[in-house]
Amino acid sequence: MSAGGQAPVRVCAAAELVDGGPGVRRAARYLDGDAVVFFIRYDGKAYGYLNRCAHVPMELDWVEGQFFESSGLYLMCATHGAIYAPDSGRCVGGPCRGARLRPVEVEERETPEGRAVFWLPDADLRSVPDDVAS
Ligand code: FES
Repeated sequence: MSAGGQAPVRVCAAAELVDGGPGVRRAARYLDGDAVVFFIRYDGKAYGYLNRCAHVPMELDWVEGQFFESSGLYLMCATHGAIYAPDSGRCVGGPCRGARLRPVEVEERETPEGRAVFWLPDADLRSVPDDVAS
């Protein structure tokens, strides 16, 4: 169990997240509102964030699951082009420079079906069923 009391949520097979590639979205509740979290891989490691720009609280991806800009080195908000370091969530360029994406805890582990990525929900940012993710 995580600090929020929810069991870890399986996000996807580890191989589905490739460096600089498409992200995987999951439905969430942040405080009292509907939200989406997303998971990406950067430099071999999986990371997850609340899908909410630090500039204006909008989702980052206009094209669903497309979080990286073309170089694959930064996450980019499609609305006004803020760019974020994928490993820290810190905004390194654009209108919210110095602010951060809200991270979620991510873990990769072996399962009987193979290595997988898990989200460890916390008290403020919780998992909801997948069918309301989009
Ligand atoms: S809403 Fe993301 S950069 Fe403005």
